[in-house]
Amino acid sequence: MSLARQTARSARLYHAAAKTLRREIDGGRFAETQVLPGERALCQLLKVSRTTLRRAIALLIAEGVLFHRHGAGTFIHRATPRVDQPFSRLTSFTEDMRLRGFAASARDLERGVFLPTPEEAMMLGVGPNERVLRLNRLRLASGAPMAIERTVAPLRCLPDWDTFDGSFYDALTARGFKPVRGLQRLRAASLSDADAALLGVAAGSPALYIQRIAYLADGSCVEYTRSWYRADAYDFVSELTLAPPHRKARR
Ligand code: GLP
Repeated sequence: MSLARQTARSARLYHAAAKTLRREIDGGRFAETQVLPGERALCQLLKVSRTTLRRAIALLIAEGVLFHRHGAGTFIHRATPRVDQPFSRLTSFTEDMRLRGFAASARDLERGVFLPTPEEAMMLGVGPNERVLRLNRLRLASGAPMAIERTVAPLRCLPDWDTFDGSFYDALTARGFKPVRGLQRLRAASLSDADAALLGVAAGSPALYIQRIAYLADGSCVEYTRSWYRADAYDFVSELTLAPPHRKARR
């Protein structure tokens, strides 16, 4: 085969591979993640060689479908949903996203049973020997990473901690441990390199850091969660009312 014909053939191949990959992305194949799968999986999926795949990826990067982050890999470019989030309602991530028409999902970063750190024991109001579930998750809205949530909960509220899937609040509610009241505080933070990579933003990007403690109807604490929400995806909104008039002190 002449060199010119060879070049034309390889161009046809990687354009076709890029087209297929774009179609798979648009069709929602990787909807659970923003990180593009590894080369080997993609070569199998597209039935192409590594060289063809790399060229196809380069083409999709040039077209803005994918982007590369040094040291973190190749990501799918997704429009980040922007969410108005009421600050004073005790809702779950799943519920919040569902209300806005997004499909909520979670990717476990860590899930296990541990003895609490002194901070966790204090926040949850449990003894140092009471085992807790630690659940660290990346939260996504229709495939776009929105937040990282690091939760601890008394193990007695979710003894089958390794089997539940999806919403943590739904799992608690189904087991008779519905959170009914919460305390929450928010402050600005900047993302660590690792968290920024998970959220698909530049290291040091701003985040809204939220701590939530939620309680059961009997007053015991059911979760202590620290969340890092992408600052470019959330507006926290609260209703403002006049402070109740001061009561006169009784004599
Ligand atoms: C919110 C809160 C978390 C809570 C989570 C439960 O995002 N910040 O404190 O743990 O919702 O969400 P889900 O029930 O979807 O797992």
